[in-house]
Amino acid sequence: MQFRAVKGMNDILPDEVGRWQHLEHCFRRTAELYGFREIRTPLLEQTELFVRSIGETTDVVEKEMYTFQRSQESLTLRPEGTASAARAYVEHSIHAQEPVSRWYYLGPMFRAERPQRGRYRQFYQAGCEVFGDPGPAADAEIIDMLYRLFQELGIGGLQVAVNSIGGPETRERYRNALLAHLRPKAAELSEHAQSRLEANPLRILDSKDARDQAACAGAPSLLDQLSDTDRAHWQSLRGALDALGTPYQVEAGLVRGLDYYTRTLFEIRSTEGQLGAQNTLAGGGRYDGMVKGLGGPDVPAIGFAMGLERILLAMTRPDAPPLPFCFLAPIGAAALHSALVLAREIRQLGCRAEVDGRGGSIKSMLRRADSSGARLCLVLGESELARGVVQLKDLSQRSQHELPREDAARFVVEQLRAVDPNAEARSAVAGSDA
Ligand code: HAM
Repeated sequence: MQFRAVKGMNDILPDEVGRWQHLEHCFRRTAELYGFREIRTPLLEQTELFVRSIGETTDVVEKEMYTFQRSQESLTLRPEGTASAARAYVEHSIHAQEPVSRWYYLGPMFRAERPQRGRYRQFYQAGCEVFGDPGPAADAEIIDMLYRLFQELGIGGLQVAVNSIGGPETRERYRNALLAHLRPKAAELSEHAQSRLEANPLRILDSKDARDQAACAGAPSLLDQLSDTDRAHWQSLRGALDALGTPYQVEAGLVRGLDYYTRTLFEIRSTEGQLGAQNTLAGGGRYDGMVKGLGGPDVPAIGFAMGLERILLAMTRPDAPPLPFCFLAPIGAAALHSALVLAREIRQLGCRAEVDGRGGSIKSMLRRADSSGARLCLVLGESELARGVVQLKDLSQRSQHELPREDAARFVVEQLRAVDPNAEARSAVAGSDA
């Protein structure tokens, strides 16, 4: 039997990992510049956490969670990171330790969706959450931060969509207005939307079914129903985005698929790269009621998450060239030991080195050195060992000279840095950005 990865879950092979590390590094650096600190939460949570926060009648909770029973407990592989962050915030009484918390996270999420390009069952998100800041300046700042990050990553065709769905009072008023619009058309809705109509009419606005979209055409706009305080928040958000020079479009129909949102909602999409229908790179919004809903204090919050696979599909800039490195070719057992020590010295000075421990003739070693992509090759033979020297070959210039053994590591590192001045710095983030 030939095993294969689970449908919708992908291996990321070493050849591709450099691009991931580059993206992760850029995300972390940006997040830290904005004062976010990393949090790591478990992949598993009690199912009820997601039901309570994301909402019982959302696609994620109704259809997409990986849930199983273990010792009387229902557990779910996290479909997103916000609920876990809020749970940790409440569990550790973080509000009592600091007035504002800015957290970021990075890791796999799980949703049993129908796989297609840009949509997977295990996918990676990088996200940020701010607890304790009611906005709207914080809202504008994280939208702008995302936009600038995507620009820095070289992603073209960016579109920023923003909307406000108001607070609970506005939502209740809007719910009634939407129900008044949809009830007379109930028979024309998809079966799924019909079943959600009374419980959660807002979700119907999000439906991809053509029947639901037709029924929603001409529905009242949420923005028209905003209370005075919601409207003031919305207008200040727009003012701050204008001040930051972040281009955006107001998308009155944007409701997003999770029930926890209040007021600000946003998505960033790209119309370029290899993205198909799944072109939403990141989405987020305010969720002022979640912390309280999970048994914590009344603390406002806002955040976003971005899908790393989609961002990589949208990034068209060529990858950074691989780090130049040195290949060590020892001939014989004694030379192998010397090569192991010398390679460690090169690495301690911050450059990449690889020892060929497979043995063989000098000819076969040099052939392997060439095909390894190394820039330099150090040959250590019996006679070199006896004389306390090594042979250094520059594989791209086809030149060779002899070096004292004790100078070899320093000399190699100097040569590699001359080829790529960032060789050492880049190795610190495992071959990521230049
Ligand atoms: P979301 O819109 O469900 O929001 O997901 C955010 C991003 O994750 C999407 O824009 C997309 O790039 C990526 N994504 C979602 N599902 C998949 C999938 N099946 N395959 C590949 N990528 C996917 C959230 O998850 C919220 N927690 C965001 C948030 C944080 N709101 C407030 N704070």
